[in-house]
Amino acid sequence: MLKKICETKDYLRQQVTSNAKTAIVLGTGLNNLADELEIQQGIPYAEIPNFPVSTVKGHAGNLIFGKLEGVELMVMQGRFHFYEGYDMQTLTFPIRVMKAFGIETLILSNASGGVNPNFRIGDIMLIRDHINFFPAHPLRGKNEESLGERFPNMSEVYDRALLQKALDIAEKEHIPCQTGVYIGVQGPSFETPAEYRMYRSWGADCVGMSTVPEAIVCHHAGMKCLGFSVITNVFSDDCPTTDTHEDVLKAGAMAEKNLTVLIKKLIPEL
Ligand code: HPA
Repeated sequence: MLKKICETKDYLRQQVTSNAKTAIVLGTGLNNLADELEIQQGIPYAEIPNFPVSTVKGHAGNLIFGKLEGVELMVMQGRFHFYEGYDMQTLTFPIRVMKAFGIETLILSNASGGVNPNFRIGDIMLIRDHINFFPAHPLRGKNEESLGERFPNMSEVYDRALLQKALDIAEKEHIPCQTGVYIGVQGPSFETPAEYRMYRSWGADCVGMSTVPEAIVCHHAGMKCLGFSVITNVFSDDCPTTDTHEDVLKAGAMAEKNLTVLIKKLIPEL
């Protein structure tokens, strides 16, 4: 794995001249944030050695180097999901490459289903904490000490100072923002009413099929992590969600304007 990380980092260093210290993973329906970027270079995942290739409709697959508000960024336009069939090491490989490249702060975004009864479609939730309910763990197997420690402390995966900064900006910009717990599940089926009631009783505020493996690896690697979740559908006791993947994309687009403003204001302050 070390050799592969090094190989991919070396390839990127040959391809781009970037001093990006911040990376963003754009989730479902949030791809258009890339339109706001002053793009320096975009590389399709298929051209990057050792990178997996995205398979889901609505997910582009490009690693973009560009500037937002004058700040250099590395942006993953499209991510890899466990439900696509990748193992945990493969789908979090880009996060390892980010660290090797010199990234210090990672912003993760995703679409999720609201489990908290106060949540509405189109809400933005800042991830305060997560529950890892995936059936596999990205740190399983022999630990490579040079990448991070065997038993990482998980009491603050999502950087509190960054979270507060994002909340302050949201308030100033009059962007309604929730905070809460994201439970990561394997998918690809949406939740049954019994499952969503269980997640709610466990303390989750929203449920989604990504982010948790990436956040674990980000934290293990010693980078700061911030997570945004766009609530694209909600559950209620008498009316289980009837949403389709298309509805999720539509609601993602709705919240995109606010999330774009928030990220644009936040980036220069990192
Ligand atoms: N469940 C899981 N993942 C999701 C959902 C959901 O309801 N909405 C968007 N991603």
